[in-house]
Amino acid sequence: MLFRNAEAVFEDGVKKVDILVENGCIKEIAPSIKGEGIDLKGLTVFPGLVDMHVHLREPGFEKKEDVESGSKAAVKGGFTEICCMPNTRPVCDNKVVVSYIVNRAKEVNLCKVRPIGAITEGEKGENLAAIGGMKSAGAIALSDDGVSVINTSIMANAMMYASDFGLKCLCHCEDKSLVDGGVVNEGYYSTLTGLKGSIRAAEDIMIAREICLAESLSLPVHICHVSTYSGVQLIREAKARGVQVTAETCPHYFTLTDEAIKDFDTNTKVNPPLRAEKDRLAIIAGLKDGTLDCIVTDHAPHHADDKNVEYNYAAFGMSGLETSFALSYTALVKGGVLSLNELAEKISLAPRKILNLGGGLKVGERADFTAVDLNEEWTIDPKDFLSKGKNTPFAGRKVFGKVKYTVVDGEIKYEEK
Ligand code: DOR
Ligand code: ZN
Ligand code: ZN
Repeated sequence: MLFRNAEAVFEDGVKKVDILVENGCIKEIAPSIKGEGIDLKGLTVFPGLVDMHVHLREPGFEKKEDVESGSKAAVKGGFTEICCMPNTRPVCDNKVVVSYIVNRAKEVNLCKVRPIGAITEGEKGENLAAIGGMKSAGAIALSDDGVSVINTSIMANAMMYASDFGLKCLCHCEDKSLVDGGVVNEGYYSTLTGLKGSIRAAEDIMIAREICLAESLSLPVHICHVSTYSGVQLIREAKARGVQVTAETCPHYFTLTDEAIKDFDTNTKVNPPLRAEKDRLAIIAGLKDGTLDCIVTDHAPHHADDKNVEYNYAAFGMSGLETSFALSYTALVKGGVLSLNELAEKISLAPRKILNLGGGLKVGERADFTAVDLNEEWTIDPKDFLSKGKNTPFAGRKVFGKVKYTVVDGEIKYEEK
């Protein structure tokens, strides 16, 4: 299979090339390769996008999403590979659930789906889950996402065990005692709306704790969905002194602030909450200077029943797979913050490195790539989502960058019709 005339984004810049695929792998990349092929003229090709933080909800919450609908949304969003969090029912804390997800993904046969196993049984924070079994069954990382492992000694043990199995802990950072029922960021807009606020320290204290553990134990740790300016600074300082810490943020933290909550739209309810302009700017600076390694969606699809309720009762989370690329490209590249290769780093290469997934636009690698029309402007409309989760605060927003082809192992898994 031959893909012609692609403006491909390599680590050292953008080059016009033809890409020859054989047996699911990239056989040749050259300025011109002879033969009939798919013309990608006018399209920009990225190494297959990776989202290392999504919620697929299966097993247990298939009303919100399942492996099939989530995979359809993923390839439509340009993702060739996604990693799914274990806060399902039952929790993905053992090899049986890990295998189940791996098998479902094989049946669905769209993008690569990599399960993340729970750190503790039932994500209860009490007993470590059976890490070895999950690793053998295909888990590529560990997380109790949705909550923090509150007991520090258990977290320290988790990091040591994880490392013995070559896995990293991905840490949702939240001190529940400080959140104390808060549903939005504490600040001007919590006062204005009367909604209960949660202070930045609720996130920062756990970020600091995970950094302290990683530093003391000389082990790696990854911080999920950073939302605070102060959290960015903690990670920046830790990196500067050599701590093995990596971190992610999400499009909503660099495109929105808590001003968005003022109309009580429950689609703006997310955990950690949308913060202030100061935080938004610090997140952008953190992406620019490398403090924040990658962009993930924290795709958290919910059913309308979970969102069409009073703000206090609504579920936390946003459906993100089908808007992430365009929001990131528009805000960061069009916004003059990142170059195209820096964007490719954040949405594809960095997560590959953090989780040892391999890949990239190189001869010999699996043929996973994403072709996008960067000049196409479109309007986000949740009615068009393939995800079951229509919960987005971005409805009506105009963005640039439309995914045209998503290629996984050399097969076209999504083509815009
Ligand atoms: O907003 C969120 N939604 N944050 C989380 O940490 C969990 C997620 C979910 O599972 O819905
Ligand atoms: Zn989380
Ligand atoms: Zn999450």
